[in-house]
Amino acid sequence: MDPTPRIAVLLSGRGSNMEAIARAIQAKRLNARIVAVISNRAEAAGLEIARELGLPAHAMPVRGRAREEYDAALASFLREAGAEWVCLAGYMRLVSRPLLEAFPRRIVNIHPSLLPAFPGLEAQRQALEYGVRYSGCTVHLVDATLDGGPIVAQAVVPVLDADDEAELSRRILEQEHRLYPEALTMLLSGDYELQGRRIKGKKPKPDMAVKPS
Ligand code: GRF
Repeated sequence: MDPTPRIAVLLSGRGSNMEAIARAIQAKRLNARIVAVISNRAEAAGLEIARELGLPAHAMPVRGRAREEYDAALASFLREAGAEWVCLAGYMRLVSRPLLEAFPRRIVNIHPSLLPAFPGLEAQRQALEYGVRYSGCTVHLVDATLDGGPIVAQAVVPVLDADDEAELSRRILEQEHRLYPEALTMLLSGDYELQGRRIKGKKPKPDMAVKPS
């Protein structure tokens, strides 16, 4: 059987992170195969982008189902599609037990702030309103809490005096598109250890290594 790690992407809207992952795979910067792109919203632009990229794209509307019922159906679909990892990319729903149990520590999310600062909606606006000088983005494993699982990777983006929400979001998004495929490269290769909440790469990059004092 093909040993390439199989991932599914869940999204609700624009789909630019899904596209960044797909392009990283095309460019062979990420060794993975996208087996399904699924949206809870049929009108999500990300589904159209996925189709244009030749990826299997599916809408799975909630249709009044309770969260756990929906997530159980989603988990079966994902298993059926052969997914080993699930990447949330602008997926605007909390993930509940049936999905978490189907993919233990194998659901990943990207959030546009330096968590644990500014979880939830409009993280960039929250950062501007709070007045922080640095924000950024975080790739983390998903648990039942909102944006609360163990942190895989972060990128820092300075907040400039001239920034408004659109401009700060744009610069953070640039980093998201770089960071998500990079973090997946580490996770999918299995080159990390999880100790409590800490995820430690087994192959730290030389430029990120901090010299012990
Ligand atoms: C990104 O900012 C991501 O961090 C957040 O939702 C946004 C999704 O954008 N979770 P896109 O759909 O990937 O373009």
